[in-house]
Amino acid sequence: MAHNLLKGKKGIIFGALDEKSIAWKTALKCHEEGAQLVLTNAPVALRMGEINKLAEACRNAPVIGADVTNMDDLKSLFEKSMEHFGGKIDFILHSIGMSLNVRKGKHYTEMNYEWNQKTLDISAMSLHKVLRTAWDMDALNEWGSVVALTYIAAQRVFPDYNEMADAKALLESVTRMFGYYYGEKKKVRVNTISQSPTRTTAGSGVKGFDGFINYAEAMSPLGNASAEDCANYCVTLFSDLTRYVTMQNLFHDGGFSFTGVTAGVIEKMENPNLKG
Ligand SMILES: NC(=O)c1ccc[n+]([C@@H]2O[C@H](COP(=O)([O-])OP(=O)(O)OC[C@H]3O[C@@H](n4cnc5c(N)ncnc54)[C@H](O)[C@@H]3O)[C@@H](O)[C@H]2O)c1
Repeated sequence: MAHNLLKGKKGIIFGALDEKSIAWKTALKCHEEGAQLVLTNAPVALRMGEINKLAEACRNAPVIGADVTNMDDLKSLFEKSMEHFGGKIDFILHSIGMSLNVRKGKHYTEMNYEWNQKTLDISAMSLHKVLRTAWDMDALNEWGSVVALTYIAAQRVFPDYNEMADAKALLESVTRMFGYYYGEKKKVRVNTISQSPTRTTAGSGVKGFDGFINYAEAMSPLGNASAEDCANYCVTLFSDLTRYVTMQNLFHDGGFSFTGVTAGVIEKMENPNLKG
């Protein structure tokens, strides 16, 4: 059921690759809640053509290609978006992650540093680049809201998450730092949502993902949060109901982050042969 929470608001959604993407679900929810959207992804991702289906479902939202590490692409994206909206932007979803060392199967202790630079650029410093572009162009309205997606590996070790743990820690730091400056300058808020493991293209790329997702499910009193629920949470953060929430890392994980152990896991430890 829609509540018109984003009526009259204009937003840019980064990172909708296919139907499974968190950004895809978020775009649909934002549209349902009355927002006008621009969709963007890396030119190579747009070649898949999937995003056009999403654009159609979102009242023919324009699709504008931009490599999030390229400042010229970002400038042109913001120019075109403001032209399309006939004004400034109210919210941005940064739903982007990519690890070259994970993709190429390099162990954390044998990291290739050139690939690592690219990983940090795409997955973390890109948020700085997006915010900097908006800042330089004065592209965001007062009380605007920017949300980026992160994972609890920024705080705790999940070995196979590899260099993405460092990338997420940096992403969360950029959120706090830029959130401070943008808050002072224009009352723009910047937050990260730390989401449960979710079956998407990026998520499933992590080694041992099935173990990962099942473990999180067993360790969360509410169970893992779905991509749809994450989209709902994004909507609340883009809405005017959360205007004083900024510089936060907000766990959206069914309680996983604050659970030491669950009764189900204890039972399994006591009876290692137990199935299910
Ligand atoms: N899936 C999970 O388990 C999970 C859990 C917590 C956080 N997250 C985070 O959620 C976000 C979205 O990931 P997802 O799970 O929906 O997977 P996804 O693969 O659907 O989305 C990742 C997106 O990043 C885009 N991207 C990669 N390089 C880019 C570049 N240079 N320029 C522009 N875009 C680029 C991809 O095209 C893709 O659309 C990521 O930040 C991810 O780390 C995912």
